[in-house]
Amino acid sequence: MSKRRVIASAPGKVILVGEHFVVRGEPAIAAAITLRARAIVSTRNDNDIIISSEDLGIKNVINKEPISDELRPLAHVVNKLVRLSGYTGGLEVKIKSEIPPASGMGSSAAVSVACVAALNELLDVGLGLNDICKIAYEAEVIVHKKPSGIDNTISTYGGVIMFSKRSGFKRIPFDSSSFKLILADSGIPRNTGVMVSNVLSLYERYPEILQPIYRSAGILANEFARALERGDIVALGELMNINHGLLSAIGVSNKKLEELVYIARTSGAKGAKITGAGGGGFIVAIADVDSYEQVVNSLKSISNRVIVADISKEGVLIED
Ligand code: PMV
Repeated sequence: MSKRRVIASAPGKVILVGEHFVVRGEPAIAAAITLRARAIVSTRNDNDIIISSEDLGIKNVINKEPISDELRPLAHVVNKLVRLSGYTGGLEVKIKSEIPPASGMGSSAAVSVACVAALNELLDVGLGLNDICKIAYEAEVIVHKKPSGIDNTISTYGGVIMFSKRSGFKRIPFDSSSFKLILADSGIPRNTGVMVSNVLSLYERYPEILQPIYRSAGILANEFARALERGDIVALGELMNINHGLLSAIGVSNKKLEELVYIARTSGAKGAKITGAGGGGFIVAIADVDSYEQVVNSLKSISNRVIVADISKEGVLIED
């Protein structure tokens, strides 16, 4: 083994349309954003395997101490890569992330993808992107129980993807030169697993009513992909607004999220919607590249965290 230290990074994501509907097989569209998680991995002279996360303020010697719940997904990744490589020495795995945790921006998936890629390089395991994505999915199952797989996929491949459980993912060509995405935090914590099971249980109770809403969301995602390719910001905004209405219909909005969505729209955004599981977390707005500051300023009046995020073409990368 020649390299003794490797840094890999992977992007967070925003779901542009189709969240929740994706859980029952409809397509969703996600974009990688410019915020990234980094894994810095190195070999050690002793046999300790240490994982630490600067953001979570946690450090574990995973082969000698009980593993804390927060580090369990990463411990799975590290142990798997160690097994696949046959490496028997010590390791240091440090995580640093620009992606706000538990925000719906795919922080856990980005951390896992970066970690698999960094160890793959350090330990010469020879995995391709597809394998990296699959191992990160295993870690996501530990975090989210029944994830659709959209987060680890977009974090691995970058750009914009259309994802469905039936057909997997395909890259969507996009022209984002005319718009900015603005994310605003409701400040309300949310739990993706709980929101997903609430929506599934609503579906079980009213299948005939919800089925057409799901079908409509699937058609909307396909229309959205065509608008992205044209860079048609007006259509993108309208479709995001319709998608927000569908998400409200399945019960994942609340007063604060509605306030954020409406303040974005009335201050000039072409469209705004919940992004991710809802019940709290973030909204995403789309605004013209020449006038987005007004939307940012208005959102700041009722949100403590407003982020302007460009779409990132880059997926997982080895940085040095
Ligand atoms: O909470 P987030 O942003 O990671 O989004 C969850 C998206 C859902 O469609 C609600 C669930 C899933 O696994 O796709």
